[in-house]
Amino acid sequence: MEWGMKNRLAQLIQKDGRALFLPIDHGYFQGPTTRLEEPGKTVAPLMPYADAIMLTRGVLRSCIDPTNTKPIILRVSGGVSVIGEDLSNEGIITSVKEAIRLNASAVSLSIFVGHKYERESLLNLARLVNECEEYGIPVMAVTAVGKELEKREARYLALSSRIAAELGARIVKTYYCKEGFEKVVRGCPVPVVIAGGPKVDSVVEVFEWVYDALQKGAIGVNLGRNIWQHDHPVAMIRALRALIHENYTPKEAYAEFERIRQTG
Ligand code: 5RP
Repeated sequence: MEWGMKNRLAQLIQKDGRALFLPIDHGYFQGPTTRLEEPGKTVAPLMPYADAIMLTRGVLRSCIDPTNTKPIILRVSGGVSVIGEDLSNEGIITSVKEAIRLNASAVSLSIFVGHKYERESLLNLARLVNECEEYGIPVMAVTAVGKELEKREARYLALSSRIAAELGARIVKTYYCKEGFEKVVRGCPVPVVIAGGPKVDSVVEVFEWVYDALQKGAIGVNLGRNIWQHDHPVAMIRALRALIHENYTPKEAYAEFERIRQTG
């Protein structure tokens, strides 16, 4: 692996082999998502605790101070909306030249295995990898499920994650599943991070997913709504950070969450 690729990956994946990515890209198909109406304000207090932030070029340019030195994972697929016909019909919306100009440490793109536009999304990934490899930029593939949240089970996630890695993704973002997650990781020869999906009521549940995913070989998270839609997002991200980088158990992470929630 060349120096540039290694260096960018080292910005994202920390020396302990773990990673906490904070995605705020949801507006690219959902519009002003709850608690992300003003992305700059949402992310500012959370940024110190994230290893990288994931977002589109529009939000990066208009909401993030360019003196920020947190690594950027630039979402470069899109072109659909939540009220449109088919969420899987994405194209590439940002050039690699623009990603370089914006000093991105990685780019990300969704693939839609088993959806109507499966082939297009996979060819988009392959083309993006071809171009990004020339410049040493890692591609993080997002194994998207669109509105079909029930697809978040091991067989589907393993299939989708493996295809992403086979096509050249350097990191795969997938979902956690309670049964068989170890098979998802074992079948994917590149690092795996998990997303959270829609916000759940119990913080302990989130800590348990993340802990179990780490035990089963994930390197960390790309977790959005379960952090920034929470009433105490800073306590949430700090507890997750302890879980990921300091090997806290879910119980210890919850105690940390409560401590920060009460004392600020
Ligand atoms: C949106 C994404 C998100 O970055 C990803 O789903 C993680 O966010 P969340 O934890 O809110 O699901 O790719 O398309």
